[in-house]
Amino acid sequence: MELYLDTANVDEIRTALEWGVISGVTTNPTLVAKEKRPWKELIKEITSLVPGPVSAEVLSLDYEGMVREARELAALAPNVVIKIPITPEGLKAVKTLSREGIKTNVTLVFSATQGLLAARAGASFVSPFVGRLDDVSNEGMEVVADLVMIIENYGLPTRVIAASIRHPMHVLEAARAGAHIATVPFGVLQAMIRHPLTDVGIKRFLDDWEKAKSSLQG
Ligand code: G3P
Repeated sequence: MELYLDTANVDEIRTALEWGVISGVTTNPTLVAKEKRPWKELIKEITSLVPGPVSAEVLSLDYEGMVREARELAALAPNVVIKIPITPEGLKAVKTLSREGIKTNVTLVFSATQGLLAARAGASFVSPFVGRLDDVSNEGMEVVADLVMIIENYGLPTRVIAASIRHPMHVLEAARAGAHIATVPFGVLQAMIRHPLTDVGIKRFLDDWEKAKSSLQG
């Protein structure tokens, strides 16, 4: 499973790239708004940093507006992927954009049937929102598992991005479910690295080494 970083913060992106563990980035209007920077300038900076796909979301809700925005965003960099919400207008836009060779990531997906429609329309990626489903007592990871199965059953080219990830267990469960990608907030990525027994183990190694060193030095 690949890991993408779910953020528009370039400092977080730089750090995660240094760790060598992420191969893409996803953003959304909320994440972009947090950075308080001109949208296109920010997307251009992120796409220049990240060698892989960078998802940027359209704001229009109508077909014409979505396609217009998508073409503008796609022109910013070759690795821009256009995030489109799963609506009738969104499906129409995905169909058009996929025929133009513009990659799309269908977002705000909360059911496997929504994801199937996105895949049939030609979406490159589909993003089921696990955390938001869990938040309302639905089994978010079941949507991921169902979509992975459907795509495998029929050999569809669409890749499943487990999104709205709240903690490391979501990442583990997404990997178990066969998700192609999990897009992870920076805080969750940090939590994935940490374990108290690792800290204890490092301390014990260093303490034992110091004791041995001092005894060797007499
Ligand atoms: O990529 C979608 C993700 O950013 C949404 O996450 O935490 O707002 O549900 P969240």
